[in-house]
Amino acid sequence: MQVTVAEHAGFCFGVQRAVKMAMEATENHPVYCLGQLIHNPQVVQELAEKGLKVIDDLSEAAPGGTLVVRSHGLPASAIEEAEKRGLQVVNATCPFVGRAQKLAAQLVAEGYQVILIGDPGHPEVRAIVGSADGEVIVANSPEMLRQLEVKPEVALLAQTTQDFAQFQTCAAVLLSKARELRIYNTICTATEKRMAAALELAKKVQAMIVIGGKNSANTRRLAQVCRATGVPTYHIETEDDLDPQWFSGFEHVGVTAGASTPKWMIEGVVRKMMEMEEQKVQQANEVEASAQLQEEAADKEVAQAGEAPAEATQEAQPAEPEDANMEAQAFPTINPGDIVKGKVVQVTDDEAMVDIGYKSEGIIHKGELAFRPVTSAKDVLSVGDELEVYVEKVEDGEGNPVLSKRKADAARAWVVLEEAHQKGETIEAPVIERVKGGLLVDVGVRGFVPASHVDRRFVDNLEQFIGQVWKLKVLEMDRDRNNVVLSRKVVLDEEFEARKQELYETLKAGEIVDGEVKRLTDFGAFVDIGSGVEGLLHVSEMAFSRVDHPSDVVSEGDKIKVMILGVDKERERISLGLKQTLPDPWDNITEKYPEGSVVEGEVTRLVDFGAFVKLEDGIEGLVHISQLANRNVAKPDEVVQSGETVKVKVISVDPERRRIGLSIREVEQPAKAAQAESRPAAEYQQSAPEVTLGDLFGDLFTEQSAEADNTEAKEVEAESSEPENAASAEEESTEAETAAAENPEEEGTEAAAEEAQE
Ligand code: F3S
Repeated sequence: MQVTVAEHAGFCFGVQRAVKMAMEATENHPVYCLGQLIHNPQVVQELAEKGLKVIDDLSEAAPGGTLVVRSHGLPASAIEEAEKRGLQVVNATCPFVGRAQKLAAQLVAEGYQVILIGDPGHPEVRAIVGSADGEVIVANSPEMLRQLEVKPEVALLAQTTQDFAQFQTCAAVLLSKARELRIYNTICTATEKRMAAALELAKKVQAMIVIGGKNSANTRRLAQVCRATGVPTYHIETEDDLDPQWFSGFEHVGVTAGASTPKWMIEGVVRKMMEMEEQKVQQANEVEASAQLQEEAADKEVAQAGEAPAEATQEAQPAEPEDANMEAQAFPTINPGDIVKGKVVQVTDDEAMVDIGYKSEGIIHKGELAFRPVTSAKDVLSVGDELEVYVEKVEDGEGNPVLSKRKADAARAWVVLEEAHQKGETIEAPVIERVKGGLLVDVGVRGFVPASHVDRRFVDNLEQFIGQVWKLKVLEMDRDRNNVVLSRKVVLDEEFEARKQELYETLKAGEIVDGEVKRLTDFGAFVDIGSGVEGLLHVSEMAFSRVDHPSDVVSEGDKIKVMILGVDKERERISLGLKQTLPDPWDNITEKYPEGSVVEGEVTRLVDFGAFVKLEDGIEGLVHISQLANRNVAKPDEVVQSGETVKVKVISVDPERRRIGLSIREVEQPAKAAQAESRPAAEYQQSAPEVTLGDLFGDLFTEQSAEADNTEAKEVEAESSEPENAASAEEESTEAETAAAENPEEEGTEAAAEEAQE
């Protein structure tokens, strides 16, 4: 049978050191240890024989004696008390444990909520907690952390014998809960190495023997790790616990040992196993020989025993205790996985040197500065910059710690992202790249914004956004898959809603605001009056004159000033006016168009009761049918046509009702009268026999004509005595019908008539 001892089996550096210090201390009696020096009953017994007395309380120690502090350490208060009691203290606390104690105390003093992953009942854990005045939360599972209410600033430590995978899971849980998380990997590398070596060996052998105290946590974990491979595993304290039956039929058995197991004990176990194997072979030979010849058997047995001895090999000697480099490792300040603060002391194109308080400066290679490709380290860092870095390796081949800014940034970024995601908060990030289906943004890690979440409306050219800094919301994230999906559209939607509500609250009718024409329709234009909030500028509110189509007045993209005409919060509608912001053409109307003046205008509309004539933009007057000509007119188009330019006389102006009464007849009449006056009387006389009154005055004397004139005279009289337009009640009724036909939405014909005239 082959027996192989795993690498890194047995005494670790810390235990070796503690045992040595305790041995030396026993030279001066009395000497005490508060609790067992290490978790190995045999070693404790050996030390006890040399005079080291294990006590449970300091009161058991005689003043003047020596107290050896166990490798797991003691709370600071216990050491203080020992000194007060007159004991000389020999501090054999493992430096790795000491570092965790120091960190805990320091971080608590800095205001961090310190969480220690470990076994709350383990002396090492109690010592770390005690070194920080009890202000350390001990958690033994990620589930416990999920339930834990954490403060914004958290620091995470681990018991030195913790499983690294478990520690990582705990860190991931806290990353999602704490705003700032400082992670200190205080797991002892000796433990990790021992575990890894045992695991590797367990996969190769048919059985594993794990040596160490049953009270040793790291030995129990070692046995668990071996068992997890499926290989039969036996946890023993001494060689006396070995059972030869365990190895029956096995050709290869592995041995490992916990950190508190001395080398001599491992050697004893291996020796015993070899002896057992020898005995087994011997017994087998005896049986074989007895089956053949009794006398020859004994000789053969001896010969066979000499030929096939049990084979014992050792992959490596427990390296740590005697390792010459141990002293150098005695006071480490960093471990792989730590995130520490540093200051840049030198930058070249390819790397940056960072002082992190270690014995030598750490190196960040260019590729570890950011997740994006970096052309030169100088583009990212400058001498004097302070930053957080992740410890990749404690030392490279030249003794420098190998650091990563990228990983430290990512750790922080995930914390920020998780918090932003949970609270629905906005984060800012630059757009860095166009990729298939969207854009990439730098959120400390690579973030993806789908094209559909780039803007409130679909955008075709995504390249235009590269280099912009956006406000974003986290839609989904998966740290394990390094996946973050963000949205700018959600932010824009929220801003739009907020702005809209604000506008609805603050906008007042009559206010003039800046706007931009966004869309045209047949009935008006939609105008953005800020942050995407749009109001409707109806075609009827675009100009004082009639507008056939909105495009006659505005175009998309025009920047205009508009007046708020109305705000309907319930229906979320804002009505706007443009003409209200323009000079009113009716100002000084009586000066521009005094009664009696003759002006030119364009016929814009013909209605049954007359013709509308535009004098200028926004000013239209009515030529009543009776004022169209010096004769009876049945229909306006007998005299004028739409679009025709005519001369009209202003016969009435009503600025309040915005009405102007015009007359074509009165422009023509004086001309006719003048013509009549200039004709010589002889002419009339000469022609008198042939000319009748009817010839001279046409149908002026017809009954109908006389009646018309009478009516008109009355209207003009009424017009001059009342502030009414020339339009009679009959006309208004007709106009109302016309207006109602033109504005079917209007309910009252009177209002429609008003509108038609206005
Ligand atoms: Fe120290 Fe690591 Fe041993 S913490 S006591 S060297 S297992």
